[in-house]
Amino acid sequence: MDIVLSGIRSTGKLHLGNYFGALKNFVKMQHENRCFFFIADYHSLTTHPTPADLHGSVKQVFAEYLACGIDPEIATVFIQSDLPEVSELYLLLNMNAYVGELERTISFKDKVRLQPENVNAGLLTYPVLMAADIIIHKATKVPVGKDQEQNLEMTRKFAKRFNHMYKVDYFPEPTAYNFGETLVKIPGLDGSGKMGKSEGNAIYLTDDPTTIRKKVMKAITDSGPSKKNQEPSESIKNLFTIMEAVSEEETLNYFKDQYNNCTIRYGDFKKQLAEDTIRFTDPFRTKFEDIYSNSTYLRKLVTDGAEKARLSASQTLKDVREIMGFKAF
Ligand code: TRP
Repeated sequence: MDIVLSGIRSTGKLHLGNYFGALKNFVKMQHENRCFFFIADYHSLTTHPTPADLHGSVKQVFAEYLACGIDPEIATVFIQSDLPEVSELYLLLNMNAYVGELERTISFKDKVRLQPENVNAGLLTYPVLMAADIIIHKATKVPVGKDQEQNLEMTRKFAKRFNHMYKVDYFPEPTAYNFGETLVKIPGLDGSGKMGKSEGNAIYLTDDPTTIRKKVMKAITDSGPSKKNQEPSESIKNLFTIMEAVSEEETLNYFKDQYNNCTIRYGDFKKQLAEDTIRFTDPFRTKFEDIYSNSTYLRKLVTDGAEKARLSASQTLKDVREIMGFKAF
């Protein structure tokens, strides 16, 4: 059984693309592995959120993940900053991480370009903190997107270096967890590319029905098919892909036939897509609101999650301190 760990950015709400991308797989994966999910709030400090924003987003993200079906009874769900062991391991790992190699990472160079006024040391050592997150639980598999692959490679490097420097076989080298075929890419509503927060083309799981209707009705279409069985344009293909994800197969086939016969009316098509999206996201919204508004429940989950996560974290730290030569007098 693998130990799977995933760090969640504490910025941004979940949209349909996230759901069909990773979330659905996380929910499944938790039954097959020992899973750790945590909200990376320390990492978010590298971009200097206000204290209110920091707390607000952590709460939002926490409730959203649970609403999607991550089960805190099965997986260990926690907040990064609730584990003081992580910051201690980060400090220790920093001593064996070299400024040169950190400066060369793509994500650091990107950040220097993006926020030249705020090139803080936390940005430079971001991969070290991420490595601490992962190896503190001796995770073997980490589901990461393309943009995080280098960070995972750095984690392997730090784990290997630790083992080598102290002549131990202590940390496993984690590899990427690949969802393979099951990853469904959901396109955006703007006719091109995938759904994304920064693209402004997303349907959020917490969007209310009115907002969803508005967004879907505004989605880009074309002037309609002019001959039978015509290859649909990118924008229409995209709407069919979303429909495939949220609607019944019958509905999808009905509109595909209409398209192929040139009888489709995009207004009706989008109305149906909007209603099916609302129906699909409805249980999520209900569950989210229940969790989000229940502070007592949230507090209990966060506390229990931290307690569970600290079990493996404190054991690792105890071992690491000993390996590195810290001894009681
Ligand atoms: N860097 C990751 C991201 O931006 C978040 C993250 C932090 C993470 N620590 C992690 C992901 C550990 C996986 C494992 O998405």
